Amino acid sequence: MQILAGLDFSWLLLSWLLALAVLVHGQLQSGFISIDCGSPKDHSFTDDVTGISYSSDDQFISTGVNVNIDNSFMYDGIPQPLSDVRSFPQGSRNCYNLTLSGTIGRKFLIRALFLYGNYDRKNQVPQFDLYLGVNLWYSVKFSNASHFVSTEIINLAESSSIYVCLINIGLGTPFISGLELRPLNASVYNTDSGSLLLFERLDVGVMTGNQSIRDRDDVYDRIWSPYTSPNWISLNTSSVVDGSGDGYRAPPMVMKTAVRPANGNGSLELYWNPTDSTLQYYIFMYFAELEKLQSNQSRKLSISINGSPLLGSFVPRYLYTTTISNSSSLSRNELRVSIFKTTDSTLPPILNAIEVYVVKQFPESPTYRGDVDAIMSIRWTYRVDKNWVGDPCGPRNYSWEGLNCSYSGSDSPRIIALNLSSSGLTGEIIASIASLTSIQSLDLSNNSLSGQVPDFLSQLTSLRFLNLKGNQLTGYVPDILIERSNDGSLTLSVDSHNICASGSCKKGKNIVIPLVASVTSALVLLIILIILWRLKSTRQPAIESGVLSNREGSFLASKSQQFTYAEIVNITNNFQKAIGKGGFGTVYHGYLKDGSQVAVKMLSQSSSQGSKEFRTEAELLMRVHHRNLASFIGYCDEGGNMALIYEYMAKGNLKEYLSDTNANVLSWERRLQIAIDAAQGLEYLHSGCKPPIIHRDVKTANILLSEALEAKIADFGLSKVFPNDGFSHVLTQVMGTPGYLDPEYYVSSKLNEKSDVFSFGIVLLELITGQPPIIKSSESVHIIQWVGNMLERGEIRNIVDPRLQGDFDINSIWKATEIAIACTPSTSIRRPTMNYVLTELKDCLAIEAARDRSSVLKEDHGITLVNSTEMFLVDHGSITGPVPR
Ligand SMILES: *[C@@H]1O[C@H](CO)[C@@H](O)[C@H](O)[C@H]1NC(C)=O
Ligand SMILES: *[C@@H]1O[C@H](CO)[C@@H](O)[C@H](O)[C@H]1NC(C)=O
Ligand SMILES: *[C@@H]1O[C@H](CO)[C@@H](O)[C@H](O)[C@H]1NC(C)=O
Ligand SMILES: *[C@@H]1O[C@H](CO)[C@@H](O)[C@H](O)[C@H]1NC(C)=O
Ligand SMILES: *[C@@H]1O[C@H](CO)[C@@H](O)[C@H](O)[C@H]1NC(C)=O
Ligand SMILES: *[C@@H]1O[C@H](CO)[C@@H](O)[C@H](O)[C@H]1NC(C)=O
Ligand SMILES: *[C@@H]1O[C@H](CO)[C@@H](O)[C@H](O)[C@H]1NC(C)=O
Ligand SMILES: *[C@@H]1O[C@H](CO)[C@@H](O)[C@H](O)[C@H]1NC(C)=O
Ligand SMILES: *[C@@H]1O[C@H](CO)[C@@H](O)[C@H](O)[C@H]1NC(C)=O
Repeated sequence: MQILAGLDFSWLLLSWLLALAVLVHGQLQSGFISIDCGSPKDHSFTDDVTGISYSSDDQFISTGVNVNIDNSFMYDGIPQPLSDVRSFPQGSRNCYNLTLSGTIGRKFLIRALFLYGNYDRKNQVPQFDLYLGVNLWYSVKFSNASHFVSTEIINLAESSSIYVCLINIGLGTPFISGLELRPLNASVYNTDSGSLLLFERLDVGVMTGNQSIRDRDDVYDRIWSPYTSPNWISLNTSSVVDGSGDGYRAPPMVMKTAVRPANGNGSLELYWNPTDSTLQYYIFMYFAELEKLQSNQSRKLSISINGSPLLGSFVPRYLYTTTISNSSSLSRNELRVSIFKTTDSTLPPILNAIEVYVVKQFPESPTYRGDVDAIMSIRWTYRVDKNWVGDPCGPRNYSWEGLNCSYSGSDSPRIIALNLSSSGLTGEIIASIASLTSIQSLDLSNNSLSGQVPDFLSQLTSLRFLNLKGNQLTGYVPDILIERSNDGSLTLSVDSHNICASGSCKKGKNIVIPLVASVTSALVLLIILIILWRLKSTRQPAIESGVLSNREGSFLASKSQQFTYAEIVNITNNFQKAIGKGGFGTVYHGYLKDGSQVAVKMLSQSSSQGSKEFRTEAELLMRVHHRNLASFIGYCDEGGNMALIYEYMAKGNLKEYLSDTNANVLSWERRLQIAIDAAQGLEYLHSGCKPPIIHRDVKTANILLSEALEAKIADFGLSKVFPNDGFSHVLTQVMGTPGYLDPEYYVSSKLNEKSDVFSFGIVLLELITGQPPIIKSSESVHIIQWVGNMLERGEIRNIVDPRLQGDFDINSIWKATEIAIACTPSTSIRRPTMNYVLTELKDCLAIEAARDRSSVLKEDHGITLVNSTEMFLVDHGSITGPVPR
């Protein structure tokens, strides 16, 4: 036999309807998304045959027009989704935004349906590209107006939003008839790499007609094509075949028919002639014995693919499905599956069903996470009225309108230009703009922006073009930008009143920098710069000037913050009460003269070579104030005795508080609040301090709890000065604590604030699971791997700290786990900023806070399993951080 390689099933059009027994007990899984593209707004219906509810697409897309296909292509019983289309005459890219109810790391099957049906009355079939996210899924082509094209792909969701984009490649207007998404059990349809594009899905041995088979009892709603051959004999049973033995869940209606060779000694042969020999295939075969065998009968079979044995001897079980697949892909210019009987088998071989998939590599990366966060916040704040859906830069060369991106190799694309001129923007220029760190061209002209020209524009070091003209901005363009426009590295267009401090310039006339290089204007500019500089230095917060002065060596700490050793002895009552031992030394409890309680951290003498840096750092820390940073009260630096004095935190550190030995159990809501507190502290260190402070040793032991269980971060900035003495012999340069250590930083020694984000992700996992970062059982397992393994095996409840006793909203746990996973990829570029993490955590808390506590025992809301295997394999394969022996 020969089945032509083709992915379109035009005959499906004839036969969507199932004439076969319609099983009554449809058990469709939650999480199905079924869209009848092009149907009227708010229209929804339930398909009589499949029992699946379809909705119109207006909640998933806002562009395009709805059109019915031509009457001559309508026929009795045409599936409703095919009777109308959404077509996209405007714009070269239009995307659907589908949201998965579960979480990232889920596996899903997605199917797109197309029937042209001369909907535009032009009688000319278009050709266009279909993308899943930023990667090409399928090039849609038609032979004729009645040609029904369906394409299906199995993919792993990397975020909860899935974008399906139609791209106009200049060969006609793209359109779509239907879109169906089905969540899968994450343990099935695995590949070494890439996604699986459906090639062939056959229900063999069906005698009755050409109808495709869509079993209401198929939890994945697969559509099976009937197939038989003159060389085969069909078998069937009226009994139910159990397909629940593995995650593939082969549907009973498909399994109840099978084939055997007509020639009793022959083999079953399936043969394809692929058009492209570079393609790789995965084959999944389904077997179940349909005949009750006598004691002197046996059916044993062996399977080979392209002549190489896949399976030696195998006995199908009676009325019970076994799925057989090859774990690695096949690549040949022929594809031949042979099923033989073994020599000791009395009966011929059988086959019930078979699926063949082609591996589809998805090489493109989505846009750099920091740029996505920034542009989303810009879109949201200014309510940008543009077709901004999907990935900002992807598909490659089809970025959002008004954006330009740079694409280099397989790196994440970066936003390099943003043009929002004449876009009706109001309000201030928001700081998110400064998070577009690769931006070269920024055009905000002719809007109604107000407020100050922000200083943060000067942080955009790649900026070559800036246009702020035609707004109601006040204040002055940062002097650095003016300098850069003077030396020609920046083209600056601003309203004149934004570059003139003295008010002597005439208003209303736009001055385009570079200014005319006359001697007088240069002089004026110099004066302006001096004035600006003065203004700026008095306006700046203390931190920045503190750092500046430190560099110049002229800063003197105020006396009240310096303590003598004698005072320390007094405060601690001669080191009477030790309350902890940290990386740098012992911590003592003490009282200041005014009676307030403090924690005094005595630094071990061995670190004394760092005393100068210590002093500089301590002076800096005294200027860093935030509700979620442990208040630094003062320090002592006298004759090799160094001490740091912090406010006393009555409830100790989070590590101890979370441990089993502590009788108090933190509720999930409280844990989230603690995570938010800590995230706020870190966010301040990263974004609120200039220069940013990287903590480098974020861990539960460094998160302190007040009497009211408010969390504050301790030890920030200090790890820069003092090697963590416990491990300094192992890690000469790289510092941090095993288990929390950013693998990229560990390998490259290159530090940035994303290292803290990684460690914070681990803290979050600890809050969720109650487990330490390195879990010691028979062998040490990292918490990321542990969570991955648990999620792979079962449902999320298994990872949650048993001490919570189920008292939480599972969606809130999901979201928190998602955030933690998002924080911990091995490459720092894929991690979000603390700012983003904070926003997400607040959502998590809102979900938990809104929980109806009367229904604590209610089961999961249809949310099942996350596939974390692959994600973890991909992202965490390289964790090489030290594990203590
Ligand atoms: C349309 O194209 C399909 C697929 O190539 C083919 O099977 C069908 O016969 C064609 N129909 C007409 C009316 O040409
Ligand atoms: C089952 O087999 C019988 C003959 O053995 C045949 O008449 C019937 O149509 C078959 N049913 C199906 C669904 O193929
Ligand atoms: C299946 O379809 C083919 C072509 O469309 C037709 O010739 C054949 O009679 C059909 N078979 C049955 C059993 O309906
Ligand atoms: C997924 O399949 C595996 C293997 O059969 C099974 O143990 C697990 O319970 C399934 N998960 C779900 C959510 O159905
Ligand atoms: C199958 O092979 C056996 C032994 O090789 C032979 O006796 C028998 O006639 C063959 N049957 C058929 C149907 O060819
Ligand atoms: C198996 O046993 C049945 C009677 O139970 C007999 O009719 C049949 O011929 C036997 N078949 C073989 C291959 O021995
Ligand atoms: C099945 O996969 C294995 C690797 O897991 C590979 O070595 C083997 O060649 C594959 N089988 C066939 C028939 O290609
Ligand atoms: C997609 O939809 C989700 C949920 O409605 C939303 O949070 C997200 O921002 C949307 N994405 C885009 C790019 O519009
Ligand atoms: C994107 O554009 C560049 C330059 O125009 C071109 O070389 C490249 O092939 C395009 N890539 C895609 C995927 O269209």
